[in-house]
Amino acid sequence: MKILFVTSNQNKINEAKILFNELDYSVEGLKINGKLPNFIEPQSNNLEVVAVSKLKQAVSLLKNNNLEEYAILVEDSGLFIDKFSDFPGVFSSFVYDSIGLTGILNLLANSINRSAEYRAVTILQWKNKIWKSSGVCKGTISNKELGEGGFGYDPIFIPLEGDGSTFSQMSNIEKSLISHRSNSLRGLLDSLKHPSK
Ligand code: IMP
Repeated sequence: MKILFVTSNQNKINEAKILFNELDYSVEGLKINGKLPNFIEPQSNNLEVVAVSKLKQAVSLLKNNNLEEYAILVEDSGLFIDKFSDFPGVFSSFVYDSIGLTGILNLLANSINRSAEYRAVTILQWKNKIWKSSGVCKGTISNKELGEGGFGYDPIFIPLEGDGSTFSQMSNIEKSLISHRSNSLRGLLDSLKHPSK
């Protein structure tokens, strides 16, 4: 099965590839005329609502472009910081582009409570079948940016399940063992492997 992932983020595509390879499914970014079309983001503070909206828009795009034989994968994710009552959450992308990692570190300066978690919701649709899943990765926000890998908030996110390194200091494979997105995608894989569950 070929899966078209509704994202232009190559890091997210690589994470999905690592997992879906296990079932011999190929994953690539959805492109129409060579690029990911613009999607309208609904006004919502709920990852699932955003993901469902992306899915509906993607399904009609596939229909209009004779790509209905392919499966479509959508994902919405974000960083939820305890001290800020789950902010930036669904606004993670916007906050990253506006105040950046320095802004987050400044807001948390001298804070003892540095707990945070990444959350992801993933939905796969193939023809008229739909599979949904969610995943979490708990951690803390570091005192400074560390590492070169990953993307977004990875240089300041230290997963609890790791050895104290930030996601940016880990390899793609190491991140994919514990990340929120991989946890969510594993839920989808499990449903695909065990359809009667
Ligand atoms: P979206 O789901 O593409 O709207 O993006 C959510 C935003 O959350 C991203 O732009 C990142 O800023 C952040 N984010 C989500 N997952 C990750 C991750 O695995 N690493 C780093 N940042 C992430």
